[in-house]
Amino acid sequence: MKPGNNGAKILCQNLWKIFGPNPQKLIASLDHNKSKEEVLAETGNVIAVKDVSLEIREGETFVIMGLSGSGKSTLIRCINRLVEPTAGTIIVDGKEISSLSQAELREFRRKKMSMVFQHFGLLPHRNVLDNVAFGLEVQGVPKVRRRELAFQTLQLVGLKGWENSKISELSGGMQQRVGLARALAVEPEILLMDEPFSALDPLIRRQMQDEFLNMRSALNKTVLFITHDLNEALKLGDRIAIMKDGEIIQLGTSEDIVLRPVDNYVAEFVRDVSKSKVLTAQTVMEKPKAVVPGGFSLGQAHHFMTRHGFDFVFVVGDDRRLKGILLLNDAEEAVKRGINNIDEVIRLDFPESTADTAIEDLIPLIVATDIPVAVTDARRRLRGVITRTVLLEGILEKSENGNAISPAVLRGRNRIGVG
Ligand SMILES: Nc1ncnc2c1ncn2[C@@H]1O[C@H](COP(=O)(O)OP(=O)(O)O)[C@@H](O)[C@H]1O
Ligand SMILES: [Mg+2]
Repeated sequence: MKPGNNGAKILCQNLWKIFGPNPQKLIASLDHNKSKEEVLAETGNVIAVKDVSLEIREGETFVIMGLSGSGKSTLIRCINRLVEPTAGTIIVDGKEISSLSQAELREFRRKKMSMVFQHFGLLPHRNVLDNVAFGLEVQGVPKVRRRELAFQTLQLVGLKGWENSKISELSGGMQQRVGLARALAVEPEILLMDEPFSALDPLIRRQMQDEFLNMRSALNKTVLFITHDLNEALKLGDRIAIMKDGEIIQLGTSEDIVLRPVDNYVAEFVRDVSKSKVLTAQTVMEKPKAVVPGGFSLGQAHHFMTRHGFDFVFVVGDDRRLKGILLLNDAEEAVKRGINNIDEVIRLDFPESTADTAIEDLIPLIVATDIPVAVTDARRRLRGVITRTVLLEGILEKSENGNAISPAVLRGRNRIGVG
């Protein structure tokens, strides 16, 4: 952690941007309760960003979502100082951006962060490879090296073989891949993405979102992503800030925004969102009670199950690492056959998820089998359990007004096996 930035990669404090005849004078005397329209009508000034404070953590994808004109582009451009803020501070890696000299600023823009734009911003007379190498050229990277890096980056974005093509020969989706490759080629720590997928057809757009998610986990960059599309925000963002008239009106995770909208404006936005896309295993899972240590004999485990009325137990090692699941039917049969080694009877093949798996993706697991889903962490330690009943109750409870539950799942409710 660097001093003065609370461990944040990017920190904005009380940031303002006003476009108009006399922003500095206006800001000193401004009545904060006046709306953007009132201020414009009375003074001719446009409040594009109004008193925004936020903190973007290292490695997260932070999404700013808002309708057109809400101030998203102005905010992101303040962060790399393509736009000079009227007031407030921006600190990146502990360094205040406004204090940078022109030379430092150039260095900062080249090395620290790169930007991907909605309309690609490519150089039409250059081929694909030279577009991607452009940022490296500006940095003075020697030709051979920059071509090598550009080749590698094109491979990363799925454009291998297109190096010598003209930009005009590429579809929109491919052009945006070039835009992304150009931004990535300079190996920035921070990616600023201003509606990068908004100009693409829905199908290509979804594909780009999926690839972005894959790439993001491989690259480990801090990303500030802007969109006017709520579904895109929910899909991509670790955290989301909702902007309206230059202000951030809610900041939180997808779940926060969908389950706990702060006002009618946000509530209206999220009304049609399928809750099962946003709710995660974490929200509905229960603390596992049906757990026995790996050292138990089959007889001991069987006794434990009958005493507590469990249809199944998870079998875990010393550090709570999951070894397998023992089903009551299997245990009874094995006991009859005189087997006493639990390892011979436990099942190793059962549904498993992580805490951040969307409920939407749990439903097929639960429907396909009577065995409950084990929720485990990266080291495969048992964190929670989700049975069909728990899942259904979770969905029902969390979406009273919801449209999240598919009729097929509800029908399955009468056929509950284990749990
Ligand atoms: N250069 C400018 N001069 C005057 N007004 C501007 C300028 N750039 C943006 N604005 C105004 O600032 C507000 C926010 O714009 P913008 O940041 O582009 O929003 P978004 O990216 O969310 O669509 C809008 O009202 C817009 O008209
Ligand atoms: Mg914009």
